[in-house]
Amino acid sequence: MRILSGIQPSGKLHLGNYFGMMQPALELQNKGDAYYFIANYHALTTVSDAAALRQGTTDVALDFLACGLDPERTVFYRQSDVPEVTELMWLLSVVTPMGLLERCHSYKDKVAKGIAASHGLFAYPVLMAADILAVDANVVPVGRDQKQHVEVTRDLAVKFNLQYGEVFTVPKEDIRDSVAVVPGLDGQKMSKSYNNTIEIFGDAKDTKARIMRIVTDSKGVADVKDPDTCNVFALYRLFASEAEREAMAARYRAGGLGYGEVKKALHEKFEGHFGPLRQKRAELAARPDFVEDVLRRGAEKARALAGATLQRARHAVGLD
Ligand code: ADP
Ligand code: TRP
Repeated sequence: MRILSGIQPSGKLHLGNYFGMMQPALELQNKGDAYYFIANYHALTTVSDAAALRQGTTDVALDFLACGLDPERTVFYRQSDVPEVTELMWLLSVVTPMGLLERCHSYKDKVAKGIAASHGLFAYPVLMAADILAVDANVVPVGRDQKQHVEVTRDLAVKFNLQYGEVFTVPKEDIRDSVAVVPGLDGQKMSKSYNNTIEIFGDAKDTKARIMRIVTDSKGVADVKDPDTCNVFALYRLFASEAEREAMAARYRAGGLGYGEVKKALHEKFEGHFGPLRQKRAELAARPDFVEDVLRRGAEKARALAGATLQRARHAVGLD
């Protein structure tokens, strides 16, 4: 089984990214050949400051390695070090119906938020298809908001194969139902564009303050509460074992538990989980040559695979 996923270097890693995409991707490392990359071509659709893009790219590399990406098992690279994907994107573009892209929610949402409606933003899913198809991925671990993009990828692969012969492997998304949408401080989807995130490697004091600010209903300590509609519980459960989750839910239903106490428990879980990773990240940040070497070696391997796929596609369409 070949697994591929990417993350844009366009903001600080938050709990939504971590539980929606990074943790599932890291778990899959041991189940097949994993290819994970930093989607810096994609980030150009929203990041126009070169220094910010460079910094974001370094951040994603450190985040992934600190959180447990094993560079001996997993091929880890910068998208822009594998330029084959951009040529493949063109070959896919000519079989991409405009209507398919016009239906993409992500494009419409971004434009509604004020992001410039460039051709790159519109064609974003075709580049994503090229990322996935270039390495013959079978499985793509992503959060729910990326599901439609993987469906577009599947459509394009099938259409190209019908038209030109079997060139591409048709992939499937892998979405964890239990964490499909991680809520933010205000209960909406956690997203950097809503300023409602809890950053994984943010300032420790700020993180605690943000956890204490999570919106709840106004029930008092003595009141009986519903864990299933509570944002604090929704985040707590991501860290808790099944037994801990059940025990906490029972305390909600019994009354006598204040939201402040659950927030403290969530903060302790957060620290227990990410404290050691913060330490590891700082150690990696002090070894830029090591990180660069990992990304270069990853790009070499990814290029070999993408180059072979591109040759097949070029041959199929008559460009060789
Ligand atoms: P953001 O919404 O903050 O801009 P991205 O769009 O860069 O985040 O998402 C990167 C990855 O993290 C994607 O695979 C996406 O599905 C996942 N992801 C982002 N936010 C969440 C969330 N709140 N819940 C689950 N997964 C998420
Ligand atoms: N669009 C993804 C996101 O915003 C990032 C991405 C780019 C990606 N190419 C990909 C994810 C290929 C999975 C597979 O999160």
